[in-house]
Amino acid sequence: MATIALDIGHRPAASAASARASGFAPLERPELAYTPEVAEATAPVYEKVKDFIPQIEWPVLAPVIHAINKLKKERNAVILAHNYMTPEIFHGVADIVGDSLALAKEAAKTDADVIVQCGVHFMAETAKILNPDKTVLIPDMKAGCSLAESITAADVRALREKHPGVPIVTYVNTSADVKAECDICCTSANAVQVVESLGAPKVLLIPDQYLAANVARQTDVEILTWAGACEVHERFTAAELREYREIEPEVKIIAHPECPPEVVDEADFTGSTAGMIDWVKQNRPGKVMLVTECSMADNIASETPGVDYVRPCNLCPHMKRITLSKILDALVEMRDEVTVDPVISARARQSVERMINLKS
Ligand code: 13P
Ligand code: SF4
Repeated sequence: MATIALDIGHRPAASAASARASGFAPLERPELAYTPEVAEATAPVYEKVKDFIPQIEWPVLAPVIHAINKLKKERNAVILAHNYMTPEIFHGVADIVGDSLALAKEAAKTDADVIVQCGVHFMAETAKILNPDKTVLIPDMKAGCSLAESITAADVRALREKHPGVPIVTYVNTSADVKAECDICCTSANAVQVVESLGAPKVLLIPDQYLAANVARQTDVEILTWAGACEVHERFTAAELREYREIEPEVKIIAHPECPPEVVDEADFTGSTAGMIDWVKQNRPGKVMLVTECSMADNIASETPGVDYVRPCNLCPHMKRITLSKILDALVEMRDEVTVDPVISARARQSVERMINLKS
């Protein structure tokens, strides 16, 4: 197995509240007044987020939500938001919310002229790859991902040379350049299905070593991988989950497959972010711990009354770069536009479309 040294991040000191607050300064625009019209239009949103956003903050956030919602209609824009967006984005301005697979599928279907991707850069690139003629905006160009940064197109070419004839599956959390070098994409929701669809005895599943290890336990296909990791999920430990179970024996633990296998072993259920949400909605445990990014629990709390969300969780510093004020700026100024070289895009599109077109 090829390995690389990674510069793994540390638990960010920032909280979800401070991530929201970081977007406050640009919101102090005279046109963003908290008028009775704004209060009325945004009241249903506040109902959903009131447990996470203090009332005192609402007169600052509500006018921005209102302005974004008006502007996106004028621009014929659609806002795609990942499940890790903060509640005011998730409930306030998103047209479509979901996991990486759902967002890629929605990006392929949209007839909007403009896509605003509230997520990280690889997600915006995927939307652009599927919609080369549309304008795709990302509110913060620096919203990256430790997985996407762990591997380059040259690394994939070297892997192909080292393992001739072995199909290469890339996790969707990679750059367009990397997708262009691979045979097919997968997400955490369909990785086993994608690997098995190839009919090969051995498959390279890159770049997440933990997703690959978790998939390897569910299939007879031999899996080779790469030493990438999600800086959010690799920080959970089996020991801390065992401690939580000791303190709260009735807690249900559900984990994302980007967690190390020994963490997944402690979980009652493992699935993509959408899979985790569905599990909580269907099973309605009294207490649940979502072993993933912090906004997940905040976003579904209003739809799952009676479920107590036990922490810890970890913040993704990249996802948290996306704020309401940056979304508004993106729509006002039509920036930052995501572009992908047409030749790379055409090759990467084959990898993404092969995944989307798989029969479920
Ligand atoms: P999913 O939403 O596809 O489960 O992915 C999680 C993730 O880490 C995206 O960055
Ligand atoms: Fe990347 Fe992990 Fe953040 Fe998702 S949660 S964007 S995989 S660093």
